[in-house]
Amino acid sequence: MDENPQDDTEQILSDLLRGAMRALAARAMAELRLADALDVPGTAQEVAERIDVDPSTLQRLLLALASLRLVTVQDGVFTLTPAGQRLRSDVPGSDWGGIMMMASPWTLATWSGLPESVRTGQPAFERVHGQSFWDYLRSNDEAGRIFDAAMARGSRDRDPTALLHAELATYDARTIVDVGGGTGRLLSQAVAALPGVRGVLADQEATIAQAPKVFADHGVADRCEAVVCDFFEAVPSGDVFLLSNILHDWDDQRCRTILDRVREAAVDGARLVVIETVLPDETNGVSPESAPLHLLDLTMLLNFGARERTLAEYAGLLEAAGFDDVRQVGDTGRSLVVARAGAAG
Ligand SMILES: C[S@@+](CC[C@H](N)C(=O)[O-])C[C@H]1O[C@@H](n2cnc3c(N)ncnc32)[C@H](O)[C@@H]1O
Repeated sequence: MDENPQDDTEQILSDLLRGAMRALAARAMAELRLADALDVPGTAQEVAERIDVDPSTLQRLLLALASLRLVTVQDGVFTLTPAGQRLRSDVPGSDWGGIMMMASPWTLATWSGLPESVRTGQPAFERVHGQSFWDYLRSNDEAGRIFDAAMARGSRDRDPTALLHAELATYDARTIVDVGGGTGRLLSQAVAALPGVRGVLADQEATIAQAPKVFADHGVADRCEAVVCDFFEAVPSGDVFLLSNILHDWDDQRCRTILDRVREAAVDGARLVVIETVLPDETNGVSPESAPLHLLDLTMLLNFGARERTLAEYAGLLEAAGFDDVRQVGDTGRSLVVARAGAAG
């Protein structure tokens, strides 16, 4: 909470003053593939030979990384800690892409635009880099690869799949439409868990190209189809709609347009399931544990002029578009906001 009962002022400021340096030291470890090279423990001299860097300078970096608890040192031999292991690029659940992206020169440049974004309410990415976030990734191979690696990692504590399947099992679903559903993985898993249900993946042409393979891999090719869709124009009809990681990419006005299109495609009583990070209501105190959520919210502002929202904010958007019975399923963090299409007015 906001009060600070033990005086941890020094610790708070020390973390802040050196936060960027800590992240950049970890990024150097990732960029040099140092964690990969430490799959076998070694002295600075041995590891320097493995990755072809200056041994005495590597020793200084390794000692700094030891102070950050990414490696330990005993008799001059450095060993990865469990956190350091996660910066290997070649392990399941790797955070290599995450640190490479979050402490990248392009992310740092974007974040340096935060004061101006706060002054104007406008995003920073295009102002700083001269092109949109997505165009930047498309025209910069290395950044694109890093972004894909970071996204492939997914959100470890925020996988909504189990929540989604439990919720869908309570519906009498016939046709599930995943609006902006990407390559169809979430939809395929849901349809596979629900015998007799049809799935419709609605996304842009280039994105749905991979869908047939994803459907086949999940054994649902005979019950799923992929259709080209611009969700600002029209959405395929159905009785259950999924919007996963869509609304946080857009401002309120654009969200309203998407939701209007969904409502037009929904039969009365149809279900809408929004899968998003839901901000807690924190008008009377903010927990330090909320930091990742608020930093994600600022990332959406800076990159896209978009936002994360509280349940009340989602309810406002959904109700304005003709949905009712809005409720949250799951805790704050990644959860579901579900609603029902009210009788068309
Ligand atoms: C952040 S991704 C979310 C993908 C997927 N729902 C998920 O949760 O992983 C946003 C998706 O919206 C799609 N998209 C963006 N603009 C769109 C539009 N105008 N019409 C349809 N889909 C769109 C993108 O192609 C992308 O698949």
